[in-house]
Amino acid sequence: MANGIAADFSMLRGEPPIKYLTKANMLAAQGRDITRFEIGQPDFDTPDNVKEAAKKALDEGFTHYVPTMGIPELVEAIQDDIAKSRGFRPDKEQIMVLPGAKPGIFLGLMTTIAMGYEVIYQNPFYFQYDSLVGYMGAKKVQIPLYEKDEFRMIPEQIQDNISDKTGLILLNSPQNPTGGVLSKKDVHAIAEMAEEHDSYILSDEIYSKMLYDGEKHYSPSYLDECKERTIIVDGFSKAYSMTGWRLGYMVAPKEIIHKADHLFADIGSCTTSFVQKGGVEALKNGQYFVDHIMEHFTRRREAIVSGLNEVPGMSCIYPKGAFYVFPNIKETGMKSEELANYMLDEAGVCLLPGSAFGSQGEGYLRLSYARSVEEIEKGIGKMKEAMAKVL
Ligand SMILES: Cc1ncc(COP(=O)(O)O)c(C=O)c1O
Repeated sequence: MANGIAADFSMLRGEPPIKYLTKANMLAAQGRDITRFEIGQPDFDTPDNVKEAAKKALDEGFTHYVPTMGIPELVEAIQDDIAKSRGFRPDKEQIMVLPGAKPGIFLGLMTTIAMGYEVIYQNPFYFQYDSLVGYMGAKKVQIPLYEKDEFRMIPEQIQDNISDKTGLILLNSPQNPTGGVLSKKDVHAIAEMAEEHDSYILSDEIYSKMLYDGEKHYSPSYLDECKERTIIVDGFSKAYSMTGWRLGYMVAPKEIIHKADHLFADIGSCTTSFVQKGGVEALKNGQYFVDHIMEHFTRRREAIVSGLNEVPGMSCIYPKGAFYVFPNIKETGMKSEELANYMLDEAGVCLLPGSAFGSQGEGYLRLSYARSVEEIEKGIGKMKEAMAKVL
């Protein structure tokens, strides 16, 4: 091995779910009819007006380097959107456009913590958090989420774990993988604790436009308006069905953005120019699309939750946001991985074991309901049959 490998890449967590996806693809290629519930992306096409805006930019030759922090038009659209949705208008210097929400999480961690710092986050978690916190050599302080709390992180749990060694609290509401949503009271208490202990908060708000039953999104940024400690990460992948466009952003204290700007200039120079024009259109004229897909997701949520509650050995609570359900399978007596494998092999239904999202996910499965009601009903039918054979 050559000299000079500085970082410990063994701490980067592989994505175990990939193996289910790969196997499902293989079975489908062999002609099996596989119902897919594993993929965390909306199945809708990107709205036409967004595509047209990007096409127009291409035709007009908007194809060169643009500012590292984002094109002014998109930065302004983000200012307006944050003002509308979070109740404050960040300065331009507090915003950085990036190729997806993921780079925002990466840069947020890189600019706030280092080896030895403690990072508080939820278990079950979105893989990237666990992987990157490990990669940074930071100490993982995982807060277990419980079904009885509707998979919310309870402020008292943070109180018991926060200290002056806490570098960062990672929040994600609505949450992947459980669909749990933090209440206003939770968010306020957590923001105040972060202030008291002078720790940063990285709030991954990628699902903030995807809520049900009149539920509202609360951001810890209400307290400092992202001027001191709060970093909001958001993006276009989910609410506007733009996963492949790679477009997101962070809103953060100016000194954080300044560091992220330097780092990103070294890594990527800028986010793709014409893609950003699509983002402007999404934020300015895309609410109709968000409303439209949320109507579909509301029907799908009903179909999947009521369906899962009829599958022998399973029970499922209603998620309050995003498009994931996290059914309890403890009555089946099977481990999460065992049941996920059984469902794929026996029923031709691809879903993920809850344990792939952290130890606290054992005894659960994760299904993404970014699928039509017909597909959901078909998948549920296959799951019922398969469970009836073993229970
Ligand atoms: C919680 C969470 N954050 C971030 C992302 C990544 O978003 P993007 O595709 O914009 O990088 C995802 C995607 O699944 C997610 O679930």
